[in-house]
Amino acid sequence: MRVPIIAGNWKMNKTAAETAAFLGELAPKLAPFTGTERVVCPPFIGLPAAAAALAGSDIKIGAQNVSEHEKGAYTSQVSAAMLEGLVEYVIIGHSECREYLGETDAVINRKIKAALAHGLKPIFAMGENLAVNEAGQTLAFVGGQVRAGLADITAEQMQNIVVAYEPIWAIGTGKSANAQFANEITGGIRGVIESLYGATTADGVRIQYGGSVKPSNMAEYMSQEHIDGALVGGASLVVDDFVSLVQAAQETKGA
Ligand code: PGA
Repeated sequence: MRVPIIAGNWKMNKTAAETAAFLGELAPKLAPFTGTERVVCPPFIGLPAAAAALAGSDIKIGAQNVSEHEKGAYTSQVSAAMLEGLVEYVIIGHSECREYLGETDAVINRKIKAALAHGLKPIFAMGENLAVNEAGQTLAFVGGQVRAGLADITAEQMQNIVVAYEPIWAIGTGKSANAQFANEITGGIRGVIESLYGATTADGVRIQYGGSVKPSNMAEYMSQEHIDGALVGGASLVVDDFVSLVQAAQETKGA
């Protein structure tokens, strides 16, 4: 059984002080939903404040990116070694990093390896733009991202990877993907993983949907066979919305 995983991707929002205050309010409200895995991903600068605020809570912390390099002359970058012990998860391959930071599939593959080498669990994100979607090429495109991002990753390592399907045209636009379509694509991603690693591994991998997930549509996504959680931007910045998302996950598929 796949335990649902809901991760809040805060992007470039909340100072360290705001992080502490927000999590002080959120943590007790999320505490009852133990049948789900709940993750918050603040900016790097907020991670120590998040760790302090969540001490004694079962809410997990994730980073929003990591360097592919071990250490050295990479101004502005943060290594997996620096995140070790501070976070459990790290988002890798978010479309905003692919677009604004020029991250290619090869870079993303190296970042996944760097994260795993330091015991971090990647939330490996991918998704198509509107042109690819309208051309009916979504699964072919996303399948290519899956294969490239997972090059040389073993079945054993795959158990520590969460996949996030996020159509670019649905991120931050309020225009969420049709739930049946999202299920078709996440199911297709599971099929690609099966072709790479076999059915047992594919059945165990958790696949999130992301893109304008909100309290009003969460239950519908979570009712889909292949959707095991959500990667959430905007709604994860509001305490009561975050709680509603987790509650919907608990009620549909909670362990
Ligand atoms: P959104 O962002 O929920 O605000 O659409 C999702 C994401 O980018 O992870």
